[in-house]
Amino acid sequence: MKNILVIGSTGQIGTELTLELRRLYTGNVVAGYIPGAEPKGELLESGPAAIVDITEERQIADAVRRYEIDTVYNLAALLSATAEIKPQLAWKIGMDGLFNVLEVARTLGCAVFTPSSIGVFGNNTPKDKTPQDTIRNPRTMYGVTKVGGELLSDYYYIRFGVDTRSVRFPGLISHIAPPGGGTTDYAVDIYYSAVRGEQFVCPIAAGTFMDMMYMPDAISAAIRLMEADPSRLQHRNAFNVTAMSCDPEIICASIRKHIPGFSMSYEVDPLRQAIADSWPNSLDDTCAREEWDWQPSFDLEAMTSEMLLKLSQRLSSEANNDRS
Ligand code: SER
Repeated sequence: MKNILVIGSTGQIGTELTLELRRLYTGNVVAGYIPGAEPKGELLESGPAAIVDITEERQIADAVRRYEIDTVYNLAALLSATAEIKPQLAWKIGMDGLFNVLEVARTLGCAVFTPSSIGVFGNNTPKDKTPQDTIRNPRTMYGVTKVGGELLSDYYYIRFGVDTRSVRFPGLISHIAPPGGGTTDYAVDIYYSAVRGEQFVCPIAAGTFMDMMYMPDAISAAIRLMEADPSRLQHRNAFNVTAMSCDPEIICASIRKHIPGFSMSYEVDPLRQAIADSWPNSLDDTCAREEWDWQPSFDLEAMTSEMLLKLSQRLSSEANNDRS
């Protein structure tokens, strides 16, 4: 990777991925954004930025030509619950947008990383230690676009030789950019409530297990996969990856080790709960470990310690700035 374009650079993954890529690579790492979601602060100051709306093929091609891009990270997406509310827009971004990226990659010669998700799985998929190669029959628009995206990305590799690679991310937890409209968002929101000294009202029922991952591991997965030796890759779109499997009670208990008075109640959101119930309890990520040496660094306890520390530092410095 020399020159890199990140589409969706101001989103939950893009914010941290763009900065990490700029730390690691000396070429241009271009922060692609849409009007209304402009890069700010370090993201704006540390490198070039360009308006790249994934639904506009010309804007993607212009940025690729101008900055001589050889690798595109395509992070534009609506998360699962929002995609159920706006299925047409989810398709336009997830499928039409991906098609635009792949066409530019085919004609101008770029590698493409597009995140997939645990959302590719559905009610008929084996729930525990879900294998790499198994039934993908989601009944959500998010899942449909992610399965379609996996198939289309593999097609462009097989048919045109475009170097497409992807991982199925679980719920991603970060103290920097918040998610929005996802089924696993509760696992981020719970830390904000804990640090603010509030009770957390959980929209997902106790006993609902899903895979989760701390953002630094997700960023490292995306970069390591794109750096992996292609001759070792038996799979491409997309690899199961995971770091932990937990339900709300387990996350709550890990927070209570640091904040004993933290409390949680439940007000289950039927839309998110139905989505969560259709997803695996836990993934088997053996193929990623074998084919490109995937290994997470953070387990639940390590993640909770760092989330609570970093979030309280950030929220108190924001409160100080507001006062001055
Ligand atoms: N975090 C995503 C969501 O909840 C799943 O990949 O929609």
